Amino acid sequence: MCIFLDFEIKYKDAMARIGKFKTPHGSVTTPNLMPVVHPGKQTLDVKQFGAEIVITNSYIIYKNEKLKQKALTDGVHSLIDFPGTIETDSGSFQLSVYGDIDITNEEVIKFQEDIGTDIGTSLDIPTAPYVKREEAEADLEVTLERAEEAINVRDKLLLNSVVQGSTFCDLREYCAREISKFDADIYPIGAVVPLMEMYRYSDLVDVVMYSMRGLPEDTPRHLMGAGHPMVFALTVAMGCDLFDSAAYILYANKDRFMMPDGTLKLEDMVEMPCSCRVCCEYTVDDLRQMKQEDRAKLIAEHNLHISFAEIRRIRQAIVDGELMKLVELRCRSHPFLLDGLRRLKEYTEDMEHLNPSSKRSAFFYTGYESLYRPEVKRHLEKLANLTPNSKNLIVMPHTNKPYTRYVFKEHIKKYTDKLVQYYTNSQNLDTDFSDSDVVVCDVPFGIIPLGLDEFYPLAQNESPSIMDDDAKKFIKQQLEEYIKGYDNVIIHKNLVEKLDLTGLYEVNDTLSLPDKSISDFDRLKDIADYQFGSGAGEALFGNNQNNIKIEKSRKTGKIRHVYEDGKIIVNMRANDGFLILSDLGAIRLHEKFNYPMHRVVVSEDVEEFAVAGKSVFNKFVVECDESIRRNDEVLIVNRNDELLAYGKALLSSYEINDFDNGQAIKTRKMKNR
Ligand code: GUN
Ligand code: ZN
Repeated sequence: MCIFLDFEIKYKDAMARIGKFKTPHGSVTTPNLMPVVHPGKQTLDVKQFGAEIVITNSYIIYKNEKLKQKALTDGVHSLIDFPGTIETDSGSFQLSVYGDIDITNEEVIKFQEDIGTDIGTSLDIPTAPYVKREEAEADLEVTLERAEEAINVRDKLLLNSVVQGSTFCDLREYCAREISKFDADIYPIGAVVPLMEMYRYSDLVDVVMYSMRGLPEDTPRHLMGAGHPMVFALTVAMGCDLFDSAAYILYANKDRFMMPDGTLKLEDMVEMPCSCRVCCEYTVDDLRQMKQEDRAKLIAEHNLHISFAEIRRIRQAIVDGELMKLVELRCRSHPFLLDGLRRLKEYTEDMEHLNPSSKRSAFFYTGYESLYRPEVKRHLEKLANLTPNSKNLIVMPHTNKPYTRYVFKEHIKKYTDKLVQYYTNSQNLDTDFSDSDVVVCDVPFGIIPLGLDEFYPLAQNESPSIMDDDAKKFIKQQLEEYIKGYDNVIIHKNLVEKLDLTGLYEVNDTLSLPDKSISDFDRLKDIADYQFGSGAGEALFGNNQNNIKIEKSRKTGKIRHVYEDGKIIVNMRANDGFLILSDLGAIRLHEKFNYPMHRVVVSEDVEEFAVAGKSVFNKFVVECDESIRRNDEVLIVNRNDELLAYGKALLSSYEINDFDNGQAIKTRKMKNR
């Protein structure tokens, strides 16, 4: 829990957050870049780039008598001429370079307070990567002591407490967990600059992800010294909120242009690389002929422009739910970044915990790494909620979407000669497949039961029609597992060839096939089971379809409302096919599933507000079902498990549990209470 800094999440994608926090000098949107401002020799005015927050170095100010006096008299905001939020570093970096500095932790905290910094940093020890474990452990203990001391010494200063632990994953997690006990306002992840300089992005992913395991969700995280736009998307997806760097100047001083997919050297360039002011107004030759320091100033301007442009692009991608597509795109620009992306596969579960269950944009498959996105993992888990309706299964290749509209028309009826027997559990070749289940095999979700063909993201995805070998292997694996639940399976020959299947038999020509698509009733039940868990369909809609009235959209033909005896049970959300509860649906779901499933338990103080349909704030949630994700339908109950209302989760359970600020649930009130 952070005490002073009101951090709130507005949008989510993967572990990334668009958030907002306030300091005495304004509000800051995350993810964001803090340009490093040199207190003595800054030439570029970062205000012009829309910087909301900057970082400067309190130790440099402290060591220079003139800067020190001005900062103590007029404040650091005046010293560096920046009216917004200022974070200061403590001299730890100098410590790591020079081995020694002449200020104590307590002194540097007090000094940062005295010069009016918004966010100060304790004197952590940045332990280099790949050192001996004893060294990392010893440094870490000092870092922890100083973080605790800083909290006790500070008055109003917001505080950074830096996670260290070198390249020892367990030490990173331990440090993160221990340091969070001191309730700092921001948790930076330190000593990652050497990893980035060495292009060790897979190790960077380990260090960041293990740190994240120990850090609370309700506090911004700052990836210290990360300033190359090439790493922003990847690290934002892992939950980093703030970046800082002098890289825009350091690169410019060496005639290097930063780009979101790498770095360009002026000596190799024939064209200016973007359309910022500098790239439009100057040619490569103009720059070459300039004095070095004039040129560096212009290249720094380009570098800062590109860096902020990438931050904006990332924010848009988060809002759209397309961040992982951008991450994959960026990581393909350098083999070592691709290592980082591939290492991220080990952390799909961590990502799934925080990933929204439904997003605005379609899932675009960009290569086999996309198979490790959290949506795929979640689908495989949810698939287990469905119980077979038949002992026979028909497996079809993908068609245009929605599959139901095309599978029967294009395949089953037209091409019965293309079907072969693939699997039999009973040793009996059954010939009656008229009531069989039908699934489609497709990339990236593997098996898609037909009833789910409008549910997010099973309908909202695109993959190349030419399957890559990894995807084939993945689909085959999923299929082999899935068919174990059936006695007899027939499969379309196109898939047999694609997936290189063996163990096939010709089918008997007396085979009887389904002559119609899945019924709306069966579709509803499958969706309910998939969305809420096994048995939800029966609980919501019963077993007799004559009792249920289904209303469809005239325009799209999709299910919109489901009634029983004139009472609405659920609505179906058009964009993602989710079932949206109404009173009756909520009551039935509450009866069917035991505490704590689908539940958010609120404290007594706010019961009446929930009943009145007011949003539930994180602060008042006493417990919630761990499986809840942003955009899920949830039941709002009191401690006695009485149903008060229902609604849509705005955050994942992990966030709801950690946050004290902001809304957890957008409530819908029970009409007949
Ligand atoms: N700047 C870059 N890395 C670090 C770090 O580990 N600690 C601090 N305080 N500043 C940094
Ligand atoms: Zn440019």
